[in-house]
Amino acid sequence: MKLNLDAKYYVAPQHFESEREAIFNKTWQLIGPSSSLMHSGDYVSEDIAGARVLAIRSRDGKLRGFRNVCRHRGALLLNRGEGRCHTLRCPYHNWLYDDAGNLINAPWFADDEDLNLDEWHLESISIEIWRGLVFVCIDPRESLIHQLGAIVGELEDVPVQDYLCTHSEKLSFDGNWKIYTDNFVEGYHIPGIHPEFYDAIHFDQFETEAKVGYVKMTAPAKKDLFYKGRWYWMWPNWTLSLFEGGINTSRINPIDHQHTELIYHFYFNDDSDETQALREDIIRQNLAVVKQDFQICIDTHKNYASGGYQPGPLSPRHEQGVGYFQQRYRDSVHPGSF
Ligand code: FES
Ligand SMILES: [Fe+2]
Repeated sequence: MKLNLDAKYYVAPQHFESEREAIFNKTWQLIGPSSSLMHSGDYVSEDIAGARVLAIRSRDGKLRGFRNVCRHRGALLLNRGEGRCHTLRCPYHNWLYDDAGNLINAPWFADDEDLNLDEWHLESISIEIWRGLVFVCIDPRESLIHQLGAIVGELEDVPVQDYLCTHSEKLSFDGNWKIYTDNFVEGYHIPGIHPEFYDAIHFDQFETEAKVGYVKMTAPAKKDLFYKGRWYWMWPNWTLSLFEGGINTSRINPIDHQHTELIYHFYFNDDSDETQALREDIIRQNLAVVKQDFQICIDTHKNYASGGYQPGPLSPRHEQGVGYFQQRYRDSVHPGSF
């Protein structure tokens, strides 16, 4: 019988540091739709487990990724969010970079000694688009396609790149990101935590399968349900759920070892005014289900932190996704030590 991961991995700050190094710096991270980066100068500034990054469509048409860190004394160049700009002026001492990351001016730096601007280019990171979704990676160890694994084939029937992103939202709660991930990759908690959702599906037919790079959960709907009955989680921290005429994606982003944020994007095949109320209703219902999970995660985190929990058994029927995530986690962060 597989046992749950030891509580110390969720609550000790030093494990979060290891995760930043072994997982968040080295894996491809979903930052949003490519529609946000269509035009020259469009940028998205994001956070990856505390690492500040930016993606920008340069004047030459190329999409580039950088650390959002000034090469002078490390100030943040762009606040988090989206926008459009052709130069990046550091707010601290006014160093100026172009949209390809070149330092083009360092005003008032020296009177008699020239600074070689070419030596102080912004630090580049890797960036790729897969089916209209933008991923960045600070220090890749494998290609995006390799990381995506079998989800590439699995989602062939879902027109991901044709949907329009109509809404994004950030949610946060006080708990470790892996507690939330454990929760996302099992439907075992649906009767206890999501009673309305439970009433709307044939829970006895709920299925969970762990595949290469992803966990798939399915359940037939009994009655009107905004979900289409297919939910996915992808290693290491993004999700995709199907609605009628749309999808959402989310990224599970640790703020630190005991705070987590979820960055949701909602996509639909129709963004007309006529369907606006319907879209808003789907988003509202979806986020209500997401928020129902927060309190159980917060309290579970507290129990793990208290020292009062020894790992319990994982259900072979319902928790193979939990087992899969935790095994990938062990292999990535603590290879050979389990
Ligand atoms: S830190 Fe950016 S100009 Fe000084
Ligand atoms: Fe849930």
